[in-house]
Amino acid sequence: MTEPFRVALAGLGTVGTSVFRLIETHAELYAARIGRPLEVVAVSARDRDKQRGIDCTRCVWFDDPVAMAAEAEADCVVELIGGEEGAALELTQVALEQGRHVVTANKALLAHHGSALAKQAETANRALRFEAAVAGGIPIINALQDGLTANRIERVYGILNGTANYILTEMERTGRAFEDVLKEAQELGYAEADPSFDIGGIDAGHKLSLLAALAFGMRVRFDALPMTGITAIEADDIAYARDLGYRIKLLGIAQHTEEGIAQRVEPCLVGAAHPLSPVDGVFNAVVIDADAVDRLTFVGRGAGGEPTASAVLADLIDVARGQVRPAFITPAEKLSDLPLAAVDALPGPFYLRLKVVDRPGVIAAIADRLARETISIESMMQRARAEGDVVPVVIVTHETTRAAMERALADIATLDVVSGAPCLLSIENF
Ligand code: NAP
Ligand code: HSE
Repeated sequence: MTEPFRVALAGLGTVGTSVFRLIETHAELYAARIGRPLEVVAVSARDRDKQRGIDCTRCVWFDDPVAMAAEAEADCVVELIGGEEGAALELTQVALEQGRHVVTANKALLAHHGSALAKQAETANRALRFEAAVAGGIPIINALQDGLTANRIERVYGILNGTANYILTEMERTGRAFEDVLKEAQELGYAEADPSFDIGGIDAGHKLSLLAALAFGMRVRFDALPMTGITAIEADDIAYARDLGYRIKLLGIAQHTEEGIAQRVEPCLVGAAHPLSPVDGVFNAVVIDADAVDRLTFVGRGAGGEPTASAVLADLIDVARGQVRPAFITPAEKLSDLPLAAVDALPGPFYLRLKVVDRPGVIAAIADRLARETISIESMMQRARAEGDVVPVVIVTHETTRAAMERALADIATLDVVSGAPCLLSIENF
């Protein structure tokens, strides 16, 4: 009988149990595709007695996942614990030291230590694979590694966090409160252990930093990636954007500019005709603009046990077939330190929503403060009075920069007519 490809599974939560189940359910299919059986020989989680709906009694149990990475008789360790430091980092380093391949879904770990771990894996001639770390079930890493490797990539961008997209979609669809929808996303297993990573744009930033490294052959630069989340978005902003012909999406965008690579995560207005506009709920989408292939859009489930397990298994099957290649396409030694462009100097139009006291001269004063920064107004709408004599005013500008908008806003804040925090969003006409 052919020797099995032996797997040690660290983490038996939402993703880990789905990976275990998929290996059991599709045992014959995988054996046929790999040419030998895929077998989970060891597992590790915190609580041995927890009911998980899987039978792992024939696997060796380890309370300590780092000890498992060192001692289990496994060809590959699958890391599904999470977190940028601690057990996840240690077990990955130990597994590679012991000559085992590593497959992980952990974008936080790779955003912080990806370049160093890639180097360690290459030195050991072992695979470090992370398809599941970006956009759940969408095979975007493989697309960049294989199908698009002949292209110079100009821009990679998209909806990279399922929880945030789910919240924005449900707020728009049902008018439910932010906190209520977030709780539901957590119950469905979409959210990170710390949900502030989802709503604060950090999880999308982790993923974007990996996409940028792959697309542009640069070191992972999560340390230099500005991120804004969705907590300042009000249901009214979603409605105003819709009235203007846009939808609000939390986007990660990395692109070549004359000054270098510009990378950022922020909520943006996207035109109704753009392929990202109808991407709703927990779905993710990644758009690649490249020289030879032009534009490609990938859409699929960005979170949840099974879609993520699909990506983990794609890596496992590939590694079991003997595929070992640099983690970030370009060998780790050759990943460059490309200059990074200042994102507040990127040109583009903006959406600005203010709440102001409804009295003569207010609009003129605001327009004057914008004009001082040579910001030209494309359109302006004032809504009916919401509370007391305060009204929302929505302004769409012509092309300017975030830096100019922020200077104008600082000036506008000195007027005694503005109430509450403004909402400033870039309008992306890709
Ligand atoms: P999860 O449900 O919280 O599961 C984490 C697992 O790790 C649990 O089984 C837990 O054990 C175990 N664990 C935690 N600390 C441990 C330690 N010190 N030693 C041993 N085991 C430990 O997390 P998840 O949602 O499956 O996510 C796992 C990874 O996949 C994360 O990196 C996440 O970012 C990534 N990811 C998740 C999704 C998703 O939709 N959920 C999608 C893409 C990527 P107990 O069960 O005993 O507590
Ligand atoms: N918390 C993440 C999300 C899981 O909501 O997209 C998938 O990476």
